[in-house]
Amino acid sequence: MLDKIDKSKLPRHVAIIMDGNGRWASLQGLLRSAGHSAGVKTLKKILDTAIDVGLEALTVYAFSTENWKRPHAEVDFLMYLFSYYIEHEKQKMHRENVRIRFLGRPEEFSPGIQKQMRDATQLMKNNTGIKFNVAANYGGQDEIIRATQKLAKKVSAGEISAEKITPALFESELDTAGQPPVDLLIRTSGDMRISNFLLWQSAYAELWFTKTTWPEFSPEEFISAIIDFSNRDRKFGGLSEK
Ligand code: FPP
Repeated sequence: MLDKIDKSKLPRHVAIIMDGNGRWASLQGLLRSAGHSAGVKTLKKILDTAIDVGLEALTVYAFSTENWKRPHAEVDFLMYLFSYYIEHEKQKMHRENVRIRFLGRPEEFSPGIQKQMRDATQLMKNNTGIKFNVAANYGGQDEIIRATQKLAKKVSAGEISAEKITPALFESELDTAGQPPVDLLIRTSGDMRISNFLLWQSAYAELWFTKTTWPEFSPEEFISAIIDFSNRDRKFGGLSEK
């Protein structure tokens, strides 16, 4: 299917809300944790596909600032999976020239997981391939507030004047600093919400929803979304580009 993609119209940055692990598991009569494990398998396939397609950046929503409200056992299992995923995938990602970055507030994770996140980031920091962002303990409003606080401190320290705050300067304080805005935002499993994901970066993103649950989301469907994107008429508030 890869040869059906018009490379001149590729999205530079694709973001994914990987929803429906729990629903998939209950439909199979399995525990929610089995759904999350299946979700990790999908994530590996989708990252491989994103590399094959030649995307510049892929961001996935692994854990939101609101996910702490889930039952303890589920949060613990997600932490275990997160840690397992980093440990078992980091060398492979490194070989594939992936540059990983974690978006969000790492300080609320256990010291062990924070170290794994730092080590993986450090290992891949000079890689030049896909920018793979894992949003973990991430919330879009929280990210905007953190960026605002950093700028406010610079203003009160006299380093910059308030009038100098432009969208570009603001972006340089976001977790995705230096990366392109989101072109295509995909959400699996039927709900049509943004759920506090990449609010600033998705200002002009094309939205793509599917009823397929995340464990069942395939590389073929991912490529269909990309092909669909390449046929969209993007206007950015102006007139048609076509
Ligand atoms: C949404 O499904 C999914 C999550 C809250 C977590 C996504 C996590 C993974 C795909 C695996 C872990 C990720 C990494 C990077 C190791 P849901 O539980 O909200 O499903 P539901 O809406 O059907 O209940």
